[in-house]
Amino acid sequence: MGLSACHNFHDFRELARRRLPAPIFDYIDGAADDEVTKRQNTASFERCDLVPNVLRGVAEIDMSVTMMGQKLDVPFYCSPTALQRLFHHTGERSVAAAAAKYGTLFGASSLGTVSLEELRQKHDTPQAYQFYFHKDRGLNKAMLERAKSAGIDVLMLTVDAITGGNRERDLRTGFTIPFKLTLGGMAAFAIKPLWGINYVTHEPFKLPQLDEHVDMEAGTMSIGKYFTDMLDPAMDWDDVAKLIELWDGQFCLKGVMSTEDARKSAAIGCNGIILSNHGGRQLDGSRTAFDQLEEVVDAVGDRIDVMMDGGIQRGTHVLKALALGAKAVGVGRLYLYPLAAAGQAGVERALGLLRTEIERDMKLMGCRSVAELSRANLAFR
Ligand code: LAC
Repeated sequence: MGLSACHNFHDFRELARRRLPAPIFDYIDGAADDEVTKRQNTASFERCDLVPNVLRGVAEIDMSVTMMGQKLDVPFYCSPTALQRLFHHTGERSVAAAAAKYGTLFGASSLGTVSLEELRQKHDTPQAYQFYFHKDRGLNKAMLERAKSAGIDVLMLTVDAITGGNRERDLRTGFTIPFKLTLGGMAAFAIKPLWGINYVTHEPFKLPQLDEHVDMEAGTMSIGKYFTDMLDPAMDWDDVAKLIELWDGQFCLKGVMSTEDARKSAAIGCNGIILSNHGGRQLDGSRTAFDQLEEVVDAVGDRIDVMMDGGIQRGTHVLKALALGAKAVGVGRLYLYPLAAAGQAGVERALGLLRTEIERDMKLMGCRSVAELSRANLAFR
């Protein structure tokens, strides 16, 4: 099975599964506890039907949207995700290049493996920086200043990872960064020699957003340990209000879910919020962003931009979220499996397929522009 045989999310996932060592595939694919929320993220779109209009003159389709002051040519963006060079040796370089090709935003993660400065210099497409709030206030300030001078367009503060989620697949495989190869782990890596050769023959694994502050050589750190040891569980709304002041630019919270929190976000000066349950990787059993979208848009949509992520696999999923009032939607695994499967060519193919689906679906819905999609186009079962 090659890249040209990949026509949808599931095909890319399967190719990634074949190419990646099992512990790495499971880190991407896995979620918290029983992975109920991860499954619901996609299932929630299936509880909503599209109601098309016809004979609307759909020869020209405009898919562009504006999200937090950034003009995007397509209504989706690449959400920030961690550790991308583990999945393919080109990592963020490929994702940023593919996002730029389709005129959309990508997010560099605090746990990114290519520096935000390098990505900024290479591409002028909008760039977000995903930020974690560390116990070390000096580190927070230094990271913000660095992002500011690099020319980051949007700061996304993750607020749903106040402690590590219970990712049982990672517990079983012993997934840590850098790798601590157990005997079982070694076998999993040895049967994917191509991945292993690429990994050892390219530049050493680094976390350049954090490297002045975290000594990765001193020992292995699991994602759960990073969350628990380094991030500040005492973070509250006052801390965020101070960050907004310090950042003095486009700022959003990623991982807000309740209407009450959405209102607070607007009140303290956020420009946007991203409804998200972190791909089901944090609190299993939490509601899906899509199910929360309508009431949150009704509560704050006239004051701030509301985005969402989680479970997006199809163009129709994107259309449903837009029709409820999302300004744009984020994708994560949708580009991570293609990255793992085939690097930049894989991500470009996946984003291109999603774009083609959205264009086709808008024609079939009788919508020439995103603004023409409305709640009249949706029916819930
Ligand atoms: C995760 C974090 C790092 O979900 O975002 O693994």
